[in-house]
Amino acid sequence: MWNTSHRGETVIAHITDAHVAPHGRCTAVLKHRSVEIFADLVDQLHEAAVQAVLFGGDNIDNRGHGEEDLEAFLQLTQPLGHRWVAQFGNHEAATRRPGRIDKYTFAKAIDGRGIGPHQHDFSTVFGDVRVVGIDTTLVGSPGGFVSPETMRFLARELASAEEQHVVVLGHHPLYPAWAPYALDSWDREYLVANRHVVCSLLASFPRVRAYLCGHHHASRIQRVWGRGQSGGFYHVQTASPAAFPHSARLLTFTDTELRIQALRPKIDGLLEEGAKWVQTGRKSGRYEQLGASPPFLDYLAGAEEDNNLVVQLTPAPDRKPEVLEELR
Ligand SMILES: [Fe+2]
Repeated sequence: MWNTSHRGETVIAHITDAHVAPHGRCTAVLKHRSVEIFADLVDQLHEAAVQAVLFGGDNIDNRGHGEEDLEAFLQLTQPLGHRWVAQFGNHEAATRRPGRIDKYTFAKAIDGRGIGPHQHDFSTVFGDVRVVGIDTTLVGSPGGFVSPETMRFLARELASAEEQHVVVLGHHPLYPAWAPYALDSWDREYLVANRHVVCSLLASFPRVRAYLCGHHHASRIQRVWGRGQSGGFYHVQTASPAAFPHSARLLTFTDTELRIQALRPKIDGLLEEGAKWVQTGRKSGRYEQLGASPPFLDYLAGAEEDNNLVVQLTPAPDRKPEVLEELR
């Protein structure tokens, strides 16, 4: 039975890059175990008093068996009832070809769960948290971009939000997990190209507590765009449950704090199998070019504060910024 007792808390799960693929092969992502992993997380969500689940893109793998991947995703999310929304990832935003569905087909199949065929951005409320989902995909490209239309939508929703907390959900990161190291090819492949203007907008609204993203399959929590100890927002990059370090997240909002916790599949031996396979992928080779000192597995897993963190929140002021007039 779904637990709906929250005592003033709002508990939201963020699951991104699930890569559901019932016919999937074992690669750096354990796609052959993606269905089992997803089902395990859904079971755990029943126990965690979760009010909503945010699927952050690459929900299905869509590389050869797109229709079957979509069907499996719809079946796996059934136990969640109406308590979930989803955004696109680059795997849903594929160029249409045999074995792949396009983003419109995905959106039509989940119509009303955040996105729909005519609505690729959304804004909805769970408890005291407004969730704004923005489409950061560019069809046929792994990299991200936020269109002017989406920027206007985002600005309008942030300006009109009356809830105490706002989180923005997108697939692509706005900030590099690999900072302070630099790798141009990773910037192009993983980040939102016009991220500076998006960051600037998000940081203009104190109610924006976090930007939730995935795509890079690494776990990181970074305070970005702040000034000293104030301003800015938390850039929460969540790994894939199907690839090492195999995690999703729970976010618990109260009036005074945000608790971020890792949510991991409870499957024996998964971490060891994932650690072995993730080192066979292209990303592992590219990581060497970075010249970073942490071992690759440590880089992906992040530190303890990239996985479990309690953030003290200051009440958001009522005044809304005037930056909006330009964006209307
Ligand atoms: Fe992914």
